Amino acid sequence: MLKLAIDLGTSVTKIYRLGSGIVLAEATCVTVSKETGEIRAFGNDAKRLLGKTADQTEVCFPVYEGEIVSEKLAAALLGYFLKKAAGRTFSVEALFCVPCGYKSESREKVYRVAKEAGISRVNFAESPFLSALGQDVPLSESNPVFAIDIGAGVTSVSAFSLDGTIAGLSMNVGGNNMDIHIIDHIADKFNLKIGSLTSEKLKNMVGSLIEGDNQSTIINGRDITTGKPRSVSVSSADIEFPVRVYIDKIVEYAELILQKLPAEVSAAVGRNGVYLSGGVSRLAGLPDYIARKLQMEAHISSDPQMSVVLGGGRAVGNANLLRRIRME
Ligand SMILES: Nc1ncnc2c1ncn2[C@@H]1O[C@H](COP(=O)(O)OP(=O)(O)OP(=O)(O)O)[C@@H](O)[C@H]1O
Ligand SMILES: [Mg+2]
Repeated sequence: MLKLAIDLGTSVTKIYRLGSGIVLAEATCVTVSKETGEIRAFGNDAKRLLGKTADQTEVCFPVYEGEIVSEKLAAALLGYFLKKAAGRTFSVEALFCVPCGYKSESREKVYRVAKEAGISRVNFAESPFLSALGQDVPLSESNPVFAIDIGAGVTSVSAFSLDGTIAGLSMNVGGNNMDIHIIDHIADKFNLKIGSLTSEKLKNMVGSLIEGDNQSTIINGRDITTGKPRSVSVSSADIEFPVRVYIDKIVEYAELILQKLPAEVSAAVGRNGVYLSGGVSRLAGLPDYIARKLQMEAHISSDPQMSVVLGGGRAVGNANLLRRIRME
């Protein structure tokens, strides 16, 4: 049986294939004909069309804030990804990487979608735990780990050991909030309307939590007054606010979890520091910012967006471990 770890993210689906490594990372996105409901494009090909489609075509994201919102589109998209990642040889067993505390109704939706896409056996495990596995953090019953995974639609914060979660939560805060806020901010500041692809690119290129960072880039949009195309140069400082407010929210939640920890766990977490993952943790200066705010060391891998699915891959390759960490 072919074994996969699948992270069906709000923004990016990642698939790890046992024996091969990460075999897919593509936008969780489709375009649909408004008239017939037929899917026209899948994955990255679909996302490229965001904001550019004509009247008859709609760009859809079947996962919103970590939750499947269209089972039909999600199943079709997953089927497409599976064909890319696994060829036609299935029977497939898959471990789905899900946010901390993912509800049973939400898991049932993923289960139905996975079955519809042809997956034979389905397991679930929580992202913060998997991200620690993916970062080679030593895990045991006696050594608690504190981890934060910041995605596009969900952030999970969790303190756990090999025994399970000690305290954790997930919240609907992530990169998408920043992208939307940046659009409004650029409209106010530069009288320029930009699209969401531009906004995301802008955040990823110059978004920064480093004080005095003066990187900049040229962006194109539509002048709100004249209606004509116009370009402006936007710097890290220009978008610092719509980036930082959401990171500050995440810090607040992390502090809430820290306050709940038993004294021994708290002491260990203080010694071990916090492990960061998720696409948004690639923001310039994020580890230092979090370290300063939480007053502990912050660790991050060289490819933090892949930490969770890498950990999923470790788990599918280890039946004993999988039995211990999967959600019932
Ligand atoms: N260099 C970067 N700086 C800031 N944000 C980034 C960077 N690279 C990617 N991102 C953002 O990371 C997010 C995607 O991260 P990730 O793949 O971890 O999310 P996801 O798993 O799809 O979503 P979720 O876990 O919320 O369901 C997007 O919002 C993307 O714009
Ligand atoms: Mg994710």
